[in-house]
Amino acid sequence: MKILSIETSCDETSAAVIEKVNGKLPTILSSKIASSSNLHAVTGGIIPEQAAREQIQYIIPIILQALLASQKEELTNSDLIGANLASAFKESNKILAESIDAIAVTQGPGLIGSLLVGVETAKTLAYTFNKPIIPVNHLLAHLYANFIDSTMNSVPLTTNNKSEAILFPFIGLIVSGGHTDLLYFEDHGTYKWIGGTRDDAAGEALDKIGRVLGLPYPAGPEIEKKAQNVTSSPIKFSRPLMHSDDLDFSFSGLKTEVARFIQKKGKFSEQELSEVCFAVQDAVADILVHKTLKATKAYNCNTILLGGGVSANEYLRNAFQSSIINNQLSINFFYPEKKFTTDNAAMIGAYAALNYYPVDWNEIKASPELHLK
Ligand code: KG4
Ligand code: ZN
Repeated sequence: MKILSIETSCDETSAAVIEKVNGKLPTILSSKIASSSNLHAVTGGIIPEQAAREQIQYIIPIILQALLASQKEELTNSDLIGANLASAFKESNKILAESIDAIAVTQGPGLIGSLLVGVETAKTLAYTFNKPIIPVNHLLAHLYANFIDSTMNSVPLTTNNKSEAILFPFIGLIVSGGHTDLLYFEDHGTYKWIGGTRDDAAGEALDKIGRVLGLPYPAGPEIEKKAQNVTSSPIKFSRPLMHSDDLDFSFSGLKTEVARFIQKKGKFSEQELSEVCFAVQDAVADILVHKTLKATKAYNCNTILLGGGVSANEYLRNAFQSSIINNQLSINFFYPEKKFTTDNAAMIGAYAALNYYPVDWNEIKASPELHLK
């Protein structure tokens, strides 16, 4: 089965073609992403209206590129104008009609304008080409980036058998710009929300701290780069809720603490900036690792899956690995390939392939507030 998947929940516009063969993990035939993050870097954050306007321009070219690339044909920008565009349309219509079995799309959560671009496009294609449509929860899809065949990474790697079965049951930690949630997953579709942030998401906190430090948006990767200039830091920020009885998080205090620290300090050198970034990353990683390991104990579960933009962070991945190894825990720790940690359509297709519940084209609606169960 081949699925065309579409993701437009925030500032990325992405389309992918995923193939699912019985008994195997989904594989990616093509994956294309256009981002408007350079525009948001100028404003220091996303302006929803601007993001959606960009997505309206990108959505069709990205879908054409994904469809053609799934047949090993790469489109250049000049293929997307004039007479060339007409021929690209003709070819991609043929691929859609003849070799795509279903369309998957992010239904929510996300920005309403952005979601509408993807959902309405997917509905139109599903109706026109008479294909089933699968609505996908963006947050769950972040964890499913781990189920893409080529991306399956695990430490310690206890088996070469890359099958979906080895992943269940698992504790899923979603760490993105908008969310920080812990889930206990028993099987596909059977999960329980067991904890989450009471205020800012981890990525949101990093982005806000970046603004305080004068770093461009999105600040998560910038903080990581700066922190890599040092191997330790004399600064230690507090770890709110780290030892609370529940599985909740709180990151907004960290932003206030960093802001106060900077205000008190006045001017700071490049070395001090790196040390602040190191200390921020260390606090965030420490809290995330601590609470996730606590969840594995509470739910007697020995597998962890990481997902979401912040899971691209090497320091966080290493913190998980060393904590597992140093404490001699027999836990399998999975994280997605870097390019599938931030928003992408491949993870939407992977989720839909493994949770195949199509609906009629007119039953799907963009849902900005779509929640976890
Ligand atoms: O999952 P994502 O692309 O979008 C949402 O669904 O929110 O996550 C974006 C978030 C941003 O807050 C960004 O700063 C953060 O992920 N991020 C990182 C890294 N790469 C992206 N945070 C820390 N280290 C990174 N390398
Ligand atoms: Zn996301």
